[in-house]
Amino acid sequence: MFSLLEFLLAALIAEISFVSAENVIVPGAAWTDTSGNIIQAHGAGILKVGKIFYWFGEDKAANSALFSAVSCYISSDLVNWSRQQDALTPISGTMISASNIVERPKVPLWLATANTPCGPYLYKGSWQPLDADSRDMGLFQDKSAYLLYASDNNQDFKISLLDSDYYNVTSVVSQLNGATLEAPGVVKEDNIYYLIASHTSGWNPNPNKFFSSSSLSGPWSSQADIAPADTNTYFSQNAFDLPLGSNAIYMGDRWRPDLLGSSQYIWYPLDWSTGSPQIVPADVWSVDFNAGTYTVASGQSYEAESGSLSGSAVILTGSSFSGGKAVGYLGNGGSVTISNVEGNGQGGQWIALYYTNADSTWRNTTVRSTVLVDQPNTGGENVVLSVPVKLNLREGANSLTFAIDQSNCAADLDKIVVYQQG
Ligand SMILES: *[C@@H]1O[C@H](CO)[C@@H](O)[C@H](O)[C@H]1NC(C)=O
Ligand SMILES: *[C@@H]1O[C@H](CO)[C@@H](O)[C@H](O)[C@H]1NC(C)=O
Ligand SMILES: *[C@@H]1O[C@H](CO)[C@@H](O)[C@H](O)[C@H]1NC(C)=O
Repeated sequence: MFSLLEFLLAALIAEISFVSAENVIVPGAAWTDTSGNIIQAHGAGILKVGKIFYWFGEDKAANSALFSAVSCYISSDLVNWSRQQDALTPISGTMISASNIVERPKVPLWLATANTPCGPYLYKGSWQPLDADSRDMGLFQDKSAYLLYASDNNQDFKISLLDSDYYNVTSVVSQLNGATLEAPGVVKEDNIYYLIASHTSGWNPNPNKFFSSSSLSGPWSSQADIAPADTNTYFSQNAFDLPLGSNAIYMGDRWRPDLLGSSQYIWYPLDWSTGSPQIVPADVWSVDFNAGTYTVASGQSYEAESGSLSGSAVILTGSSFSGGKAVGYLGNGGSVTISNVEGNGQGGQWIALYYTNADSTWRNTTVRSTVLVDQPNTGGENVVLSVPVKLNLREGANSLTFAIDQSNCAADLDKIVVYQQG
């Protein structure tokens, strides 16, 4: 006998067609590689060699924080990624054994060497740079290379110069005392260095900050936000910042501690047009690396409060909702159906659900009763975030029902935005 859960899973698999060739970047979706497998490269580091991008990251498929592999993926377009041999795998009896934690791999790897970008790398050893602890490392390469790391029990943040063969740290060039920073990246724009980092709050996201200076040795400006502080960096933590023309790409992780391998990638344009780096929270976007440009897709919005409500669902008012209204008390008997959603009938379209979840834990909502979409906590009723889902819409009018057939509470739904792209 099929249980209801098995039925839902079977229906879910039927609904989601496996497409591994993609054209757009959709932050927060389950990203697959060119073989259709979920990309396991958390805490990313990107290296460009010739026309090829290499993405190194932590393989968390085992849903454990312990070291299983530094994976390596290659792409020529930053969208289609194909997995290569692992760059580094556990070596028992060393500091990179399967019972150690290896996080935020960055290449050129400081502790391992290889002849080809993906490696595999020869492990040469680990030690504390200049005899002080180092955590959550980043790497920045200018004319020289620098190690960026949290030190002194995560209290002080340090930038240290590497020697000419990138084997060891030679001196601390800058130290931000008591800064409690981690997950750092540095981008240089117009001869100004921007240090981008999060604060320390475990797996939970916090408002990531930037600091600027005309020299890597500082002095650094006081910290400022790269996104509205109450969004907690759109529920993500910085991992790497890749220069893109006069802007950059913010590459972050949306950690899911109870299911680490399902942590999503949050990549957004990081735009300097206001004079300082600010995340552009695009649901769907594309990048032309050679031209140094990005394009944010525009979609069609449908307000939840214009849908038809059933069961316990009620209309909520609030100044942060689009149109001042949203639909609450969804799930556990409440649902809303949005009609006349225009589809293109081309086999799959991205839809962003704008929602608010004031709980301290994640919620989720069904769509068309069988597809389940996760809804991370937004930190408050006044903070609206979006999560993507890909659906097959027929050409012309479609009806979409949210939060039916679920006993748990869904988040409050503000609106949906339907994109042409699949
Ligand atoms: C990804 O690969 C597919 C198949 O080769 C191609 O059609 C698509 O344009 C590629 N995406 C990008 C962004 O280049
Ligand atoms: C790294 O450099 C420091 C400072 O110069 C030195 O004390 C240490 O022995 C070096 N470590 C290795 C493994 O070469
Ligand atoms: C959906 O969310 C509820 C909490 O509202 C949670 O208990 C449940 O495990 C979630 N379901 C899945 C499949 O993640």
